Amino acid sequence: MAFESDQYSSDPNIKRHDFPPEIMFGVGTSAYQVEGAWNLDTKGMNIWDVFAKRYPEKILDSSDACVAVDFYNKMKDDVQLLKKMGVKYFRLSLSWSRILPGGKVCLGKSSEGINFYNNLIDELQANGIEPFITLFHWDLPNALEEEYMGFLSSKIVDDFVTYAEVCFWEFGDRVKHWVTINEPYHYAYSGYAVGTFAPGRGGEHQDGDPETEPYIVAYNLLNAHAAAYRKYQEDFKDIQKGQVGITLDTNYYKPYGGYDNENDVKAVGYALDFTFGWFMEPLRSGNWPKSIQEFAVTPSKHHPEGREKYLLEFTDEQKKKLINSYDFLGLNYYTSNYAQYVEYSGPSTGYVADSHYAGSGRNYQGKYIGEPAFPDSWVYLCANELVDLLVYIKKTYKLEKSIIITENGAPQNRFKEDDKKNKIEKKYVEIRDDPFQLKYIQWHLDAIRRANNLYPSKPLVMGYFAWSFMDSYEWRSGYTIRFGLNYVDYRNRLERYPKKSSNLVQKVSSCAKVMGAPQKKPNSCYRRRR
Ligand code: BGC
Repeated sequence: MAFESDQYSSDPNIKRHDFPPEIMFGVGTSAYQVEGAWNLDTKGMNIWDVFAKRYPEKILDSSDACVAVDFYNKMKDDVQLLKKMGVKYFRLSLSWSRILPGGKVCLGKSSEGINFYNNLIDELQANGIEPFITLFHWDLPNALEEEYMGFLSSKIVDDFVTYAEVCFWEFGDRVKHWVTINEPYHYAYSGYAVGTFAPGRGGEHQDGDPETEPYIVAYNLLNAHAAAYRKYQEDFKDIQKGQVGITLDTNYYKPYGGYDNENDVKAVGYALDFTFGWFMEPLRSGNWPKSIQEFAVTPSKHHPEGREKYLLEFTDEQKKKLINSYDFLGLNYYTSNYAQYVEYSGPSTGYVADSHYAGSGRNYQGKYIGEPAFPDSWVYLCANELVDLLVYIKKTYKLEKSIIITENGAPQNRFKEDDKKNKIEKKYVEIRDDPFQLKYIQWHLDAIRRANNLYPSKPLVMGYFAWSFMDSYEWRSGYTIRFGLNYVDYRNRLERYPKKSSNLVQKVSSCAKVMGAPQKKPNSCYRRRR
């Protein structure tokens, strides 16, 4: 079958020296998805601990991450695995409630939690790997959700800053790259517009209000980010000399009905504004994108006169903190979609209706935008569209800072596709040669090379992190899909085994050719250079 984004008849021949020498290559994980140890060593509960237990029906296999892949206990072995893979950077997130069990400094710090991350950072550096750390990857301390409804309250800003301060203070002597918040879009959209992520408001949830809550949460997320960024600049930057960024995510979009369909062309703009621009425009100008200003306040089913529905505007002081509050822009890119204009989206109200678009993997002719990772997957291989997206970001937001691709990866189905009912698990030998993942990473690396070539004076992309280091808890998909470069045997002591794609990352992280004959001694080149 031909896909709109088909690109090469053979794999691109990518070499390490196609990229700037200082580009960062690595792999990533997040705390809740891998650590487990949910109640060990004074850790407090977080909202995902609660959400997965309270609403098992919202998780595809009704699972939780109490144990996950037990990274907390297997940390030392996992660092050896990273070393074997030859990666120079490891992106991980810190669990806020492991460091501050009650969410706030005044309720006490956990020395065990802090020790765990100190040991992890030391272990990484002793093995030649630099930590690249995200402060918040969705696992908010539950105490803050209980006390003032988490990111629905502006009280979160002060608590986030003091948490960030603890982390800069404890770990900043060794950590030189920080991401404040991972994917604020997904936190606001999935948690408050459709209710599929913790804290599970919006959608069917009776207490949620998808008309207003996603916008309030977005406002508080941005203020929290900006305050933490400024804290670092004022009190830590001179001594620690690190960089602080934020990670946004978006698909790229194309018009569902083709470029002649004016409404769908408009819908492409709405889709990009309501996902990426929602956060990027305030970071640029201190204002919400025009389409959000127009649609998020219009009357709707729950607010027929539009009176109670308004957008919180940033004050001058907040704007000052927010504008340009990043040293690099993190970007998580997985796939692209077609955008179709939707005048009114029936029963859905609030954010979903306001955005006036519906995204899908196929266009009006039924043509896929790119090859799907497996039937029914939401990930389509759209590497050309990454170039388009990078150019769009650079131009639209007059971006001067560099972009770091903080996540990019494709899932494998854990179960055999032809047997949906009995759920027969694919064995390691059936999964380890992962041609789709290999092609996916190669094509995206090539897209980065092409995008960088467009800006010869200063490379646009300065880092690439493949997602994910190993299979792990996939939020609402539970353990049903595998994003890992390393396979985790869920039935046998969570043993890790490398997939072929982990070799590829090894090759590009060091200095060998990405493609070509398999090397006999995969590490020899790396060793010679040292
Ligand atoms: C998230 C990851 C997740 C990945 C794949 C990203 O949006 O940041 O935590 O595993 O998507 O679903």
